[in-house]
Amino acid sequence: MNNKPEVNAEVISVSPNKIKVSVDKLEEFKVAEEKLKVGSYLRVSDNEDVALLAIIENFSIVADENGGEPKYIIDASPIGLVKNGKFYRGGDSLALPPKKVEPAKLEDIKAIYENSVNENEKFTFSKLSLNKNVSVPVNGNRFFNKHIAIVGSTGSGKSHTVAKILQKATESKGSSFEGLNNSHIAIFDIHSEYQSAFPSANILGVEKLILPYWLLNSEELEELFLDTEANDHNQRNVFREAIVLNKKYHFSGDSVAKERIHYDSPLYFDIEEILYYIKNRNNEKKDKDNNIKWIDDDEFIFGEDTASRLFKEGLDTKGTSATGTLNGKLINFINRLENKIFDKRLEFIVGSKTKNVTFKNTLESIIGYKNESKANVTIFDVSGIPFEVLSICVSLISRLIFEVGYYNKKYRKSNGQEQNAPILVVYEEAHKYAPKSGLSKYRASKEAIERIAKEGRKYGVTLLLASQRPSEISETIFSQCSSFISMRLTNPDDQNFVKRLLPDTIGDITNILPSLTEGEALLIGDAISVPSLVKVDECEVPPSSSDIKYLEEWRDEWKDVAFAELIKTWSI
Ligand SMILES: Nc1ncnc2c1ncn2[C@@H]1O[C@H](COP(=O)(O)OP(=O)(O)O)[C@@H](O)[C@H]1O
Ligand SMILES: [Mg+2]
Repeated sequence: MNNKPEVNAEVISVSPNKIKVSVDKLEEFKVAEEKLKVGSYLRVSDNEDVALLAIIENFSIVADENGGEPKYIIDASPIGLVKNGKFYRGGDSLALPPKKVEPAKLEDIKAIYENSVNENEKFTFSKLSLNKNVSVPVNGNRFFNKHIAIVGSTGSGKSHTVAKILQKATESKGSSFEGLNNSHIAIFDIHSEYQSAFPSANILGVEKLILPYWLLNSEELEELFLDTEANDHNQRNVFREAIVLNKKYHFSGDSVAKERIHYDSPLYFDIEEILYYIKNRNNEKKDKDNNIKWIDDDEFIFGEDTASRLFKEGLDTKGTSATGTLNGKLINFINRLENKIFDKRLEFIVGSKTKNVTFKNTLESIIGYKNESKANVTIFDVSGIPFEVLSICVSLISRLIFEVGYYNKKYRKSNGQEQNAPILVVYEEAHKYAPKSGLSKYRASKEAIERIAKEGRKYGVTLLLASQRPSEISETIFSQCSSFISMRLTNPDDQNFVKRLLPDTIGDITNILPSLTEGEALLIGDAISVPSLVKVDECEVPPSSSDIKYLEEWRDEWKDVAFAELIKTWSI
């Protein structure tokens, strides 16, 4: 500093949350950082031991009336105090800020970050954007204990950031041991990006995924099999009745437990038997005594005890009158059921494999506990899932993960133990599963994710949402997030959305959002000492980018497309 020209810098005004600083030679006004920018720190102090730190929000130039050098006016927001090398949050403790102002020293900045989190709770995936010598740890327990949102326009670095965070989480070990650590992560990967970043993950695409229809809850089942728009009570009632009866029919436990079986019980039922049941009901008639009767090998009257006889193909009715029965009323429903049950694209939900897996197998496979494929990260490659069932698939998986957390906590508590296997569920492009809009096609997944947002934390299930449209995500979900990583955002609605998350005092810093570069982010929330502008560390093994090198491809020689091969994959 000694050789530099003298800089005149002083605090010229103070309001509760802002300080104004006037500087003459801005170029020379620097210490730790190469150059002051929006987001840099100032140190306001008259002595070495205590200083108020403030973050720069904007610069303006004021021409000198007498034709001299122009002056620079800097607006900054106080963020806290550094006392004897330790940082304390809150900017209002210096009642009368001193006059002396200078750029913050490296030690001051390090005090804000490196010394502000206990060593064993540090979780670091970024550095200060304006000073790469300062790493920015967050409090890892707080960070993962509450929901996290990563927002940014496409190409701003969201997927890269998700991958970096998760790679760090799966790599870090509290002591030296061989093998996997105890991190548990499920990713809904809509663009098949994450496989490359997690080569040893448990990868479940439509070819490998088995999501048994019999684990769907009543709402999901109705969304899949009923024409919900038609709102046909006959359909709904007969379907519900058939499922409850069929679950009881296949149940092998004691009679008390059997009595408790209901529509939502996670128990096996056979969907083809449901189809027969409904076909038989569609043929039913009444005899002159008003009994619904069918002919099997002997005659029987329809009732709860005998209904299981309808779970097979083609019973003939013995009655004569169709009045007051379901006769002929279920034809549309039968067609719809047949279409779903025999749809090749839905094999992973209704195909023969779904009848042979157990509830336990399914849970183990969706959170990476299956013996032959234990993994910290499970990737649901949902890119191949037909759009009309995407919402219920996401809903089913999310709900099962939530319930594993719920019942694990309950079970362990009954043994006097803590929940020991917390899970993080990652939704890429979260606005596609949990939008603000009330459209019924998103209802199932939205409800399941909202439930995790509201209650998951208690049971060790937290969310990490990545989205390019934060303003379009369900408010219920967003309002439950505690850590925000906001990357470049160009849409004003989305910028405002982030602005609303910040205290008014530093809301203006969001003006920087449109000009962030790839991997740069504003880190906000209670896991970090102060809102900070960071650069996320680059992944050694990155997710596969969706960027196509157009110009390079186009400059190359003509390439043929294998249409015949391509068509074979078309209908899958
Ligand atoms: N932290 C980072 N460091 C270096 N490059 C990055 C970083 N984050 C993103 N990038 C670059 O930006 C590109 C887009 O990132 P990506 O994560 O795919 O963005 P998004 O998911 O927001 O669309 C990547 O291909 C990568 O090259
Ligand atoms: Mg992405």
